[in-house]
Amino acid sequence: MIDCAEQVRRRVGNDFVVGVRLSWDEFLGPDGGITPDQSEEQIEVLAATGLFDYFSISAGGYHTIHLALPGMEDESGEGWLAPFSKRAKAIVGSRAKVMVVGKIRDLYTAEAILADEAADMVAMARQLLTDAYTVQKTRDGREHEIIRCNRCNECAGRLWEHRELVCALNPVSGREAYWGAGTLDKVSREQRKNILVVGGGPAGMKAAAVAARRGHTVRLLEQRGELGGHRRLYERLPGMGDWSIAIDNLKREIANAGVTVELDTSVSPETLRTLPVDEIVIATGAVYTRDGLSLYRPERNAIPGADQNHVYDVATAARAALADPTSLGSKVLIVDETGAHLSFALAEILAAAGVEVEVLSPGCTPVSASMKISTSFTSSRASSGWECGLPTSISSRPSANARSTCTTSGPVQSMPKRGVRLTAWCCRSCARRSTRCITPPPKCFRTSIASATARRHAT
Ligand SMILES: Cc1cc2nc3c(=O)[nH]c(=O)nc-3n(C[C@H](O)[C@H](O)[C@H](O)COP(=O)(O)O)c2cc1C
Ligand code: SF4
Repeated sequence: MIDCAEQVRRRVGNDFVVGVRLSWDEFLGPDGGITPDQSEEQIEVLAATGLFDYFSISAGGYHTIHLALPGMEDESGEGWLAPFSKRAKAIVGSRAKVMVVGKIRDLYTAEAILADEAADMVAMARQLLTDAYTVQKTRDGREHEIIRCNRCNECAGRLWEHRELVCALNPVSGREAYWGAGTLDKVSREQRKNILVVGGGPAGMKAAAVAARRGHTVRLLEQRGELGGHRRLYERLPGMGDWSIAIDNLKREIANAGVTVELDTSVSPETLRTLPVDEIVIATGAVYTRDGLSLYRPERNAIPGADQNHVYDVATAARAALADPTSLGSKVLIVDETGAHLSFALAEILAAAGVEVEVLSPGCTPVSASMKISTSFTSSRASSGWECGLPTSISSRPSANARSTCTTSGPVQSMPKRGVRLTAWCCRSCARRSTRCITPPPKCFRTSIASATARRHAT
């Protein structure tokens, strides 16, 4: 690192800022990865070179990615790495500035860290991805307009899959140049329309807000007594409560834009035809299907047996489990193709009630890696013959046994609660790394999606 920094410094000169990001603790235990003791030694050596203007303190690593980007299920406090940067600052002294990152979502947390002299600077990663105007809005007294990050880690999940970076809560993210502040076309008085939006889920709320901000008069109807659509289910599930932030963002957005909301109001197509409006936006939401189509086996229409009465879609199953965790029976298999939170949250609810649960999942994605971690789980050989190599015991927090042996995508650091059996059956390494599938069947993930999508369109 010192060699690199010397080369960089030689090329950029002394009036150019050069710094380095340091993970202070990879949380792999005393015998693995970077430990705080090593970091203390290391930063002293680096500071003594005089090559660095700043040190940026983070934590975790590729084998503990759930701590590098703590998800919404993470229970550590806001600005949780401030004690590390404080220690770094004490060692570095006036030789360089110290920056800290990690779970800083608002400027009050940032100010508190600075006031405590735990860092000279703070970094906000995901919050600024969610709303690049966070600082400006705060400075202008427009905090009610800030779109808050809920740490769902969709952004990181996409990155992992070599897809473009997006934020699940803000379509403007990454497109600020053409959809950001000052880009919205306002309509003239003559162009103003009366717009009716039917459906108060995320899509309906967003459409209503944008239309109203453009100058239209917008009325939004929701048949339930609350806004939020499917997100209302999410926020009730273990480790997923901060989906409420997504709803809150949109509720503030429609209120700020002046949308009129009518809850407990359903309309029929016949009624819609009689309403004196210029445009109607139907945003009544998507439905979870139980048709059994598997993207891993696009050549067949459904997983055999998917039509049986005791097979449910995940949302129906989750709602049933919330009402009565034993209502699905004493032995449940969850077939998951996403590696995302929903299936694992369902597994947690069931396992906590003593139901025997097995999750069949690709499971090695960063999204599932940010799941709340249980005390233990068992892994088994995939039916394809690929052995996942999952550890048999990993812990959620800094500890000695948070060690992973997954050979392909980093660890699955988070597993459902005790008693849940996990069978990893495809690592998606192919999709992420553009390499050939290392797991013969099931088929290449990308091909599966392409052909399944094509078949859907054809029918
Ligand atoms: C999409 C994305 C890409 C990231 N890429 C890097 C990276 O290349 N190097 C790094 O040290 N951290 C990277 N991070 C981690 C962030 O810099 C930051 O440490 C982490 O998100 C925790 O901070 P936050 O709570 O403010 O998001 C990335 C984070 C995100 C969301
Ligand atoms: S995708 Fe989720 S975690 Fe990432 S920036 Fe947006 S709200 Fe935050």
